[in-house]
Amino acid sequence: MKRTLRLVIVAGARPNFMKVAPIVHQVRMRSRHARPALEYCLVHTGQHYDEMMSAVFFDELGIPQPDVNLGVGSGSHAVQTARVMEAFETVCESERPDWVVVVGDVNSTMACTLVCAKLGIKVAHVEAGLRSFDRGMPEEINRIVTDSLADLLLTPSSDGDENLRREGIPATRIKCVGNVMIDALRANLPKARSSSILERLGLQEKSFSYVTLHRPSNVDHAPELGGVIQALSKVAASIPVVFAMHPRTTQRCQQFGIALNGHPGLRIINPLGYHDSLRLTESAAFILTDSGGLQEESTYFRTPCLTLRPNTERPITITIGSNRLTTLERLPADVEQALRHKTGLGEIPPLWDGNSAGRILDSLLEAA
Ligand code: UD1
Repeated sequence: MKRTLRLVIVAGARPNFMKVAPIVHQVRMRSRHARPALEYCLVHTGQHYDEMMSAVFFDELGIPQPDVNLGVGSGSHAVQTARVMEAFETVCESERPDWVVVVGDVNSTMACTLVCAKLGIKVAHVEAGLRSFDRGMPEEINRIVTDSLADLLLTPSSDGDENLRREGIPATRIKCVGNVMIDALRANLPKARSSSILERLGLQEKSFSYVTLHRPSNVDHAPELGGVIQALSKVAASIPVVFAMHPRTTQRCQQFGIALNGHPGLRIINPLGYHDSLRLTESAAFILTDSGGLQEESTYFRTPCLTLRPNTERPITITIGSNRLTTLERLPADVEQALRHKTGLGEIPPLWDGNSAGRILDSLLEAA
């Protein structure tokens, strides 16, 4: 057995940081006592770079500064993927890790996995096996490529295991470790609960809706985005709506000349930090989103969630949790129903218990 296991842990975009934080903390806790001993290098690809899309999460989650920042920035899918690959290859050559740990389904996840596959470096994919079965979503392509190349597939729920087995991946490479994002949520609950965001926005518990929408299918075309704002304006007539707007959505509104003022009750704010977002998720009467993370976080809080998408790669948030798919046409009826429930909807899925990072490390040490 090797004396030291060298890990490179990769984060690139906003939803990655909450997944990487518990893993980094677990590695640091075990680094001296584990056999083999653990060493890690944290790589930020720079896919997200704004203060409120990146640095705020490092601060709030207590993630140490990345050892390397590839600084790739924004670009088309091909440009962004290629930039990550080129820069990450150099890191792999100098670090020579035993394992690279990638999380989620963003372009950085796929790009780094592809580099490792060609260099013969083993990859562990955290959040493996999720499928929306919709290849129109860039993330679905990233998931399929990453899972087909990774050596260790660490799933958040048993549907992930089933998807992977169906794709012919041997059971020996699959391990259900639970949802690592819930580790971050549980560890940050006290801080989230002391956030002053409700007071700052003048909101009352369970008397507002928290909205985030940024998927290309909802925001990249003028008619769809115009329809979304109109629909939110109608919802806001019955309950205050707080829309924390992703930079992609803000840019599209500007580009399409969509007015964001003149909708009473609809409040557009900048993207939120982690603690403020958790506080709103726990306190909202309902969530309206197209984010994977919010579908999961609202399930944990048992807050009703309406997902403005035709599908989800996280079906367990519907079968067990508090989530429901919606469309702009069905939104008024779904809002009415969500308002009747307000809280206590659904259950928390198995292994969403705050101990996933421990199981991830156990799996890596076992596979070493
Ligand atoms: C990416 C992920 C998506 C994830 C989302 C969460 C892919 C394919 N998509 O989408 O899965 O749900 O992150 O946020 O990896 N921008 C800024 N500041 C930033 C980052 C981006 O202003 O810090 C702007 C840029 O103009 C960019 C646009 O937002 O063109 C979109 O960013 P990009 O990383 O391409 O995709 P996201 O929509 O953020």
